[in-house]
Amino acid sequence: MSVAKKEYKRITVKSLTEMKQAGEKISMLTAYDYSMAKIVDDANVDVILVGDSASNVIAGHETTLPITLDQMIYHASSVVRGANRALVVVDIPFGSYQSDSKEALRSAIRIMKESGAHGVKMEGGVEIKESVKRILQAGIPVMGHLGLTPQSIYKFGTYTVRAKEDEEAKKLKEDAKFLEKIGCFAIVLEKIPAKLAQEVAASVSIPIIGIGAGGGVDGQVLVVHDLLGMTHEFNPRFLRRYMNLYEEMGNAISQYVDDVKRRDFPNEDESY
Ligand code: KIV
Repeated sequence: MSVAKKEYKRITVKSLTEMKQAGEKISMLTAYDYSMAKIVDDANVDVILVGDSASNVIAGHETTLPITLDQMIYHASSVVRGANRALVVVDIPFGSYQSDSKEALRSAIRIMKESGAHGVKMEGGVEIKESVKRILQAGIPVMGHLGLTPQSIYKFGTYTVRAKEDEEAKKLKEDAKFLEKIGCFAIVLEKIPAKLAQEVAASVSIPIIGIGAGGGVDGQVLVVHDLLGMTHEFNPRFLRRYMNLYEEMGNAISQYVDDVKRRDFPNEDESY
């Protein structure tokens, strides 16, 4: 008897635009390894982001700045092997696109060639226009990222809500229009007022994916470790935890330790 193979229709950048046009919300989650990517993909998440948040949740760094291009490619290739349906987008890490547009293109090409991902994400607006344009010209889909851009944390000084003041809000709106005009396929808006995010989503034809940007945008993204409650010290207002895996995993592991100490594990049935 053969097991029926699950049929997948791959999400593409075009599907995302169609979802926006149809008013269907887009779901996006991070993943950094094969096993998590498989779970996320089988749960029908539309976009898997191999975020540079791997620097925080996987490597334990305070910021996203230390993660390298090689490390991102390693995470991305593991995720791609686990994702049959989702569109896989990879953050170009800090220091791999800021110096000049040729370096940016080389980094994007390495990500696409070595990991098999379907697109890249870059933080910033008009300041990084040469790099974004060059990457787009090479046929690589680019997702923008505006608002709180963690690679610039030392410029901001804090992780508080961005674009509350008129001037920053105006620049953000212009940047979103600009990224749409040059051909980005979507934009992440992080930690900005919900009203502003809704206005931006209504002003562009490409999907706007929010994190801490309210419900008036075209989709939502979270870090999967936060959603599952594996990280318990990070408690921003925008985070909805669906599980408390920190506790559940801790309990399971403590139980295992007890079983080993009590000589209960392995029992006869678990031995050869
Ligand atoms: O790196 C990341 O996980 C991200 C999301 C928070 C959008 O950029």
